[in-house]
Amino acid sequence: MPKLSRFSVAKLAKVFGGLSTRLKSTGGRPSAPLGSRFLTNPDDIFKHNMWDHVQWTEEEKQNARQRAEENSSVQIPLNEQGAKSKVINMYQGDQQAEISPPTASSMDTKTRHHQHSGSTHHRKNTSDGRMSSEGASLENNEAAIQTSAFPGQNSSYRIFEVGCGVGNSVFPIVNSIKETDAFLYCCDFSPRAIQLVKDHPDYDDSVCHAFVHDICEEMASFPFPAQSLDVILAVFVLSSIHPERMQGVVNRLSTYLKDGGIFLFRDYGRYDFSQLRFKKGRCLSENFYTRGDGTCVYFFTKEEVHNLFSKAGLEEIQNLEDRRLQVNRGRKVVMHRVWMQSKYRKSHPASPS
Ligand SMILES: C[S@@+](CC[C@H](N)C(=O)[O-])C[C@H]1O[C@@H](n2cnc3c(N)ncnc32)[C@H](O)[C@@H]1O
Repeated sequence: MPKLSRFSVAKLAKVFGGLSTRLKSTGGRPSAPLGSRFLTNPDDIFKHNMWDHVQWTEEEKQNARQRAEENSSVQIPLNEQGAKSKVINMYQGDQQAEISPPTASSMDTKTRHHQHSGSTHHRKNTSDGRMSSEGASLENNEAAIQTSAFPGQNSSYRIFEVGCGVGNSVFPIVNSIKETDAFLYCCDFSPRAIQLVKDHPDYDDSVCHAFVHDICEEMASFPFPAQSLDVILAVFVLSSIHPERMQGVVNRLSTYLKDGGIFLFRDYGRYDFSQLRFKKGRCLSENFYTRGDGTCVYFFTKEEVHNLFSKAGLEEIQNLEDRRLQVNRGRKVVMHRVWMQSKYRKSHPASPS
């Protein structure tokens, strides 16, 4: 049997063409942050499809703010929001969960009992949504990792992609972790998406476990114990969750990271082209919109991303705004794109002095 090589977050970063060099950092700064094609001569604009590190002029910033104010000046009334944002039919034929704000009862999560592999974990959140030290310490699950059977149990490096869709990230990872000691979990709340992942010729259940799971569902269990993951990956998924639910989702997911585990996040940034092109009448709440197909999208600022992960007890390693100019050379159209790319770590507990 061939000796398995070790997998690491640096190797995982390499798997993503897009995320690759950007997630490696030197001295806290990415070595080649977010691409290196600079537009220095405005006459060259239509020579490429994408330009990196685009600085916005004051006028462009002002126009973007104004456009967002205009398209969110009418918000869909709360009692109509369910109907407008209900059918999340990205993958045809799915009956999917409604994206809605938490109800009073679902917000009442001060103490939750969570079933997993026959054991019960108790989780406590503080009133501002941060995990209490009691919640964190109660998740110390080394014993469960050793005693109960779960997929990927024998791997020493576990990666979990939430909202994996049809596997755009799953298959590059699967193909790179074969012959290593790593294991990948991936979930989506769409049964159709998960079926497509499982039916893919590269799906290999010796290194991957795909399952249907709604990350907003507080009582649903995961097929691995708390504190068992090295990396959690969320790519364009948190933006589709109601902003009032996001903190709870990130808090919950973070309890599954090992100490030192990493949360990788990529999503839409504030005033991205796709936010500014919304027409009036699609806004659900500030910077949160519903598309024609019923899916929802939130547009993050750096500060919001920082607060979201810090309140979950994670330490910032990287929090970047990836600002690019996307060019449609055929139609001579130029679009300002803004994406967030962030990396947070669950800190090792302070060592006793
Ligand atoms: C924009 S797609 C991104 C898919 C994939 N991450 C990618 O980058 O190609 C968002 C995905 O998140 C899934 N999703 C949205 N809300 C979810 C939830 N509450 N629980 C699990 N998956 C969810 C959707 O079904 C969809 O597949």
